[in-house]
Amino acid sequence: MSHIVILTGAGISAESGLGTFRDKDGLWTKYDLNEVATPEGFARNPDLVHEFYNARRANCQNAQPNAAHTALAHLQSTYSGRVTIITQNVDDLHERGGASDVIHMHGELFGALCAACDHRWPAPFEMLPADACPACRAAATRPDIVWFGEMPYRMDEIYQHLSGADLFVAIGTSGNVYPAAGFVADARAVGVETLELNLEPSAVAGTFDAARFGPATDVVPLWVTEVLQQS
Ligand code: APR
Repeated sequence: MSHIVILTGAGISAESGLGTFRDKDGLWTKYDLNEVATPEGFARNPDLVHEFYNARRANCQNAQPNAAHTALAHLQSTYSGRVTIITQNVDDLHERGGASDVIHMHGELFGALCAACDHRWPAPFEMLPADACPACRAAATRPDIVWFGEMPYRMDEIYQHLSGADLFVAIGTSGNVYPAAGFVADARAVGVETLELNLEPSAVAGTFDAARFGPATDVVPLWVTEVLQQS
C-alpha cells in the first residue's frame, strides 16, 4: 500500500481569499512579524497580537474551502493507499473541505493555549489579553499558534511519515521557513519521490524531482484525478 505525504502552505488557501505571507500584499507586507508572530511580541503587546489573530479568525470564518482543499479530501477518502496531510496553515479549510487527521505543525487559529500552564481549549471567536485560562485562571491566554522561534508541533510524527512515504508533495508554500522547507530534502535523502505544486517555483524548487505550476484550484484537482486514475 503506498503512502502519499502532502505538505501545504498559505498558497492552497489563497483562492479562498485568506491571502499569503510573502506574496505581493501578503500579511508580512502589512504587519511586522516580530510584533505579531513571536513570543517577545506577545509579551510586549498582547492586545496587538490578539487583534491580529482575531482578524484572521474572522477572515477564516467568512472563507470557504476551495477546489484544492476538497480535491485533497477526495484523494484521502478514495485513494487505495494512505494520504497524510501536514499543513503549515492555521486555518481550518482542510477540515471544512472534508480532510481528516490533518497535522497542523504551526498550530490552529481556532485553538487557545494558556501561556502559564499549557492548557489548551477551543478558542473563543474573539480573544482578549484579560481572558482567564479555564484551568489555572491566569490571564495568560494566547492563540495556539507556533510563533517564530518556537518548536513546530508533532515533528517526530512528521519525520516518521516522511521516511515512510512513497511520494512527498508540497503545495502552495514558498519554501522559506524551516523545518517545513527542509522536508523535501529529508524525503529525497531516503529515496522518496518528490513533487511541487505551486503558483511559481519555491525557494527549494530545485530539490524536487518534478513540479507543476499554476493556481492550486487548477493544478491540485488535475493531479488528484491523475493519481486516482493510475491507482
Ligand atoms: N495557488 C498555488 N500557490 C499559490 C497561490 C495559488 N493560488 N497563490 C500563492 N501561491 C504560492 C506562492 O507562490 C508562494 O510560493 O504560495 C506560496 C505562499 O508562500 P508564503 O506566503 O511564504 O506562505 P508559506 O510558504 O505557507 O509560509 C510558511 O511562514 O510566516 C510563516 O507560519 C507562517 O506557515 C507560514 C510559514
